[in-house]
Amino acid sequence: LANQHVAAEDLLVSPLWRAEEAALPSPAEIYGHLHGERRLNSQGMDMTYDTERSPVLAAARLLHVVTPEEMAAEDIEALMHTLHAGQVRWDALPVERRAEILTQAADLLESRRESMLALVMREAHKTLADAVAELREAVDFCRYYAIQAKALMRKEILPGPTGETNSLNLRGRGVFVCISPWNFPLAIFAGQVVAALVTGNSVAAKPAEQTMAIAKAFVELLWEAGVPRDALALMPGAGETVGAALVEHPLAAGVVFTGSSAVARHIHQSLAVKDGPIVPLIAETGGINAMIVDSTALAEQVVDAVIASAFRSAGQRCSALRLLCLQEECADEILTMLTGAMQELVIGPALDYATDVGPVIDAEAQSHLVEQIGRIEQGGGKLLARTAWPTALLERARGGDTSLALTMPDDQQRDLHFIAPCAYTITQVAQVREEVFGPVLQVVTWKAGQIDALIDAINALGFGLTLGVQTRIDGRAAHIAARSRCGNVYVNRNMIGAVVGVQPFGGEGLSGTGPKAGGPHYLLRMVAEQAVSINT
Ligand code: SER
Repeated sequence: LANQHVAAEDLLVSPLWRAEEAALPSPAEIYGHLHGERRLNSQGMDMTYDTERSPVLAAARLLHVVTPEEMAAEDIEALMHTLHAGQVRWDALPVERRAEILTQAADLLESRRESMLALVMREAHKTLADAVAELREAVDFCRYYAIQAKALMRKEILPGPTGETNSLNLRGRGVFVCISPWNFPLAIFAGQVVAALVTGNSVAAKPAEQTMAIAKAFVELLWEAGVPRDALALMPGAGETVGAALVEHPLAAGVVFTGSSAVARHIHQSLAVKDGPIVPLIAETGGINAMIVDSTALAEQVVDAVIASAFRSAGQRCSALRLLCLQEECADEILTMLTGAMQELVIGPALDYATDVGPVIDAEAQSHLVEQIGRIEQGGGKLLARTAWPTALLERARGGDTSLALTMPDDQQRDLHFIAPCAYTITQVAQVREEVFGPVLQVVTWKAGQIDALIDAINALGFGLTLGVQTRIDGRAAHIAARSRCGNVYVNRNMIGAVVGVQPFGGEGLSGTGPKAGGPHYLLRMVAEQAVSINT
């Protein structure tokens, strides 16, 4: 359902930042060439293109991912000094030149879309629809931050008495450490790195271990676009070793981190005691994201939004829906429809075009999810629905608990790890104790007249990232948004896929520090400000 067809217009970058029409991919470049009579699938979507011969899928199947090796401690030390020296030259360039280089990087990303999409699908196990969304977001970040930096970093002349000229100048802080997650291995990696670069910082980029080849490809693309090698270095390796060394380094002048709340807290502690400057931290972490549905909501729209928000990307988005809160009066109807819709989802390898829900990132994620599902059951959660395994998957399975989890080899004999989308009913919001980073939904009902108590219970979970609202009462939507402590509120739609510059993304509380990625205030955290007062 979620991945049935990526419309040609979805392949464009968002309307605000898109390049010339001529640079955009044709559907044939993505899906293969038209063949035969026009064909619609059961959802009425156009299946006329020959997806079996899609160049992107063909490239992804052929691709052999080579993972960079962990960086040695002495190399980190040497590179941090190189980046420290390189930052001064990079920062001395006019912001227009740095912005131009980012724009060039966006153009290169678009022109290499087939190979980048293939790499994202292959290394991060993303479906085609998810890979396209990633590429689009990465391009958007490059163009958006280029535009924002030019506006922000203009020298500003301030008022002052006669005979005195006052100005405010912004410049880079030094070496920024960017630590990014595997769930958006291109988009979040790109967003962090290009924001720090365009504001005049040099960057030590530490991608997640699971997706280092994608990060390497993007760093090489930035070098090719014109970022000097002494302004940007890839620092592959584990968080505990390379990540920790970078965060604790005396030359680190700022840190951007996207990942778990626990690691963000740990980074905060490390920064508090490290030598060198006192540095800013931008942390974007997880969420126990709820959707509040009242009895005026449109059931079909609710179910569509729940399927996309809870199960697309196998639930591996920090924005994903974890807790569905249904007003009692509409719960039966919606749960019946949701159960039916979950049975229509197709679980399978990311490289199968028909797949809606691909594998989770690795074996560790799979076993952690199995444990968490166990805890939901022990806590009184009752199974409402679970997507059935396709026969083909069962035939190739290497075992596992066939009710919950399966493992199968892919065509290069690596193992793919699946979790079946599932939904559990629970009795109270407070029963949800942890973020479950996978295709696992919990459902609770609430009584008419109890809306404020519900919002307060959601706030009390301590996270504050995304919130879905489904209601036909405008005033109620506004009230819920105002009372909620969430950074992104989505009304009568799904709650994933924030668009750069359109829905600035990020939360508060356990969900992170702000400022919001893809928003107008993000770059401000990355600059040093200098006021110069000249007595003439
Ligand atoms: N920015 C992503 C989204 O909005 C989550 O990381 O889905």
